[in-house]
Amino acid sequence: MTTATTGPAAVKGAVGTAHTRVEGRDKVTGAARYAGEIPFADLAHGWLALSTVARGRVRSLDTDAVLGMPGVLAVLHHGNAPRVDTDYVGMLGIPPDPTAAVFQDDRVPHVGWPVALVVAETPEQAREAAEALVVTYDEEPHDTVLTADHPGAYPADGHMPAETEKGDLAASLAASAVVVDEEYTTPEEHHSMMEPHAATALWDGGRLEVIDSNQGATWVQTELAKMFSLDESAVRVRSEHIGGGFGSKGLRAHQVSAVMAATVLQRPVRVVMTRRQMFSLAGHRSPTVQRVRLGADADGRLRALEHRSLNQTSTVYEFVEPGAGVARVMYDADAHRTANHVVRLDVPSPTFMRAPGEAPGSFAIESALDELAERCGVDPIELRLRNEPEAGPVSGLPFSSRNLAACFREGARRFGWAERDPRPGIRREGRWLLGTGTAAASFGAGAGPSTALLTAEADGTFTVRISAADLGTGARTALTLVAADALEVTPERVRVRIGDSDFGPAMIAGGSMGTRSWAWAITEAARELRERLALGPAVPPEGITVRSDTTEALGALAQKERHSYGAQFAEVAVDTATGEVRVRRMLGIFAAGRIVNPLTARNQLVGGMIWGISMALHEEAVRDRATGGLYAPDLAGYHVATHADVGDVDADWVDDHDPDDPVGIKGVGEIGIVGAAAAVANAVRHATGVRHRSLPIRPDRVLSARADGSGTDA
Ligand code: MOS
Repeated sequence: MTTATTGPAAVKGAVGTAHTRVEGRDKVTGAARYAGEIPFADLAHGWLALSTVARGRVRSLDTDAVLGMPGVLAVLHHGNAPRVDTDYVGMLGIPPDPTAAVFQDDRVPHVGWPVALVVAETPEQAREAAEALVVTYDEEPHDTVLTADHPGAYPADGHMPAETEKGDLAASLAASAVVVDEEYTTPEEHHSMMEPHAATALWDGGRLEVIDSNQGATWVQTELAKMFSLDESAVRVRSEHIGGGFGSKGLRAHQVSAVMAATVLQRPVRVVMTRRQMFSLAGHRSPTVQRVRLGADADGRLRALEHRSLNQTSTVYEFVEPGAGVARVMYDADAHRTANHVVRLDVPSPTFMRAPGEAPGSFAIESALDELAERCGVDPIELRLRNEPEAGPVSGLPFSSRNLAACFREGARRFGWAERDPRPGIRREGRWLLGTGTAAASFGAGAGPSTALLTAEADGTFTVRISAADLGTGARTALTLVAADALEVTPERVRVRIGDSDFGPAMIAGGSMGTRSWAWAITEAARELRERLALGPAVPPEGITVRSDTTEALGALAQKERHSYGAQFAEVAVDTATGEVRVRRMLGIFAAGRIVNPLTARNQLVGGMIWGISMALHEEAVRDRATGGLYAPDLAGYHVATHADVGDVDADWVDDHDPDDPVGIKGVGEIGIVGAAAAVANAVRHATGVRHRSLPIRPDRVLSARADGSGTDA
């Protein structure tokens, strides 16, 4: 029996030191199993059949024909599926997206709506039968087109107020020396993470077990419990390894249909989405139409700011992509107005997607500021520094810390901004026009209540149990480093177990809050455990376990504006003959709190920036107004940046410990994408003299903008 005091051998310094992923070997050797590949005895396989019409009712399903096909066990649909409850508010304080509550009625609200689950002995048999299932519909006319002046638009709150207003906008605009008034649009975008959504459900001794790929095991556990009217203790959700989430992996049709089938058949049932199914079942980022009006004095100081953003949502669920939210934090003006409106269309429900609101919103406002800087003849960095607010522009609250200026100073130095000639369209290198651009970034730095279990083992090691999720971000490794420092031991003596709702409630991997929220709980538990160990008892064979709960401690975070910040820089080359845009160089400098693991944090930031390149130049899901469905909903038709599209991209950070966090963390999950597309678009403007206000900046748009001779707009 060892006494696991941390005294004389106490070590610190794991946090802040690069550490490879603790599960890296398991992943590269295939030992790490994902939700869709964990073996189960007696496993049956479900295959979702999706609607082919955009609006209407299911008139009939010819189930008899497919029930006679090889291996087919059942066909679940609105006529025979178990009823579920959707009249509740979930763990995140929002009602469930009824897209997950499958087979409750005959309504079809969009193309790709689940109308049946065919269950069979093998996935191949289930797929064959699902594709053979004949469904007839009573079709109704549909509307799937978002337009700036859509009559169905209305203000919608989402997780923030729909509208804010102070001052007299018209008067301040009229009194401004320089005015920018432009419309910016972004298209429908999809997450399409590497690992498709997958769940296996089974009943085990009266308890529902779900092996899933999600962003929060207790999140999905509590949602399933509510939906199926079960006690929370009767549901266990596990999600050990995850191949990407980006906001899409909450409660969805695959878990709910798997639970229904496992209940009906009393067998383990697995449902996996196909890549194409993900384009209608996994959520997406809504297209946006945004109008930005800026009024400023000749020196670029803002007098008036208006940012209005319109997004689409489905007829079954109100999801707001709050594009106008970023202006509430970043820039102040005497007259300040923001508005997030939505239109209900016959499309799938949009959802959270990396930096929801900030990603498209920053494209609009950071492009508009670049336009303002040019019209004022002020350097775009200087313009932003002149508009640094003293307090939250809408909240009036002080900032906990705001290191945007430090990001711009360090970024400008390393990028070589000082040598920049602001004149557009004058740098040539063979057939390429060259330009550089910059943009600011911000993202909220919050935390959610979490519990952690921490055990001092008899062999001198420590085990952390927390219902955290590692989406591939490196969260498990970051928490190992945090726990090691909190316990004053080396990381080798710490093992971190995550992704199991039996470990107790914890924040989801979302809103850039995961690592911070979990680290807080682990730090609290470690403090208590060290106190217990300091009293000197020998550790018994079963170990000594303490449990923490940060619900009360998080009260310390109230009453401040809390954000991460960043400065994005891009250099582009534009081929004037083909319209191709290449991002040669990109640099992001961030103030994102204390960086726990530089290796994986850089990976998060660079990943976000590359997604920004992808957003600026490639990504666009195009809906066919005739059918209401997408053209080519797959990774052949939906273009994302690949290695060949990405030049020299680097991310780094300035010192920015959050003063109110026990570890100093803010969060790095989302800020990398914020402002990234604007930096690229601003660089394209600088290269070509053409302003692109609609994403993506496709070759045809580059060419037609030049061909029309306007020289300034696209
Ligand atoms: Mo994120 S869009 O909060 O997973």
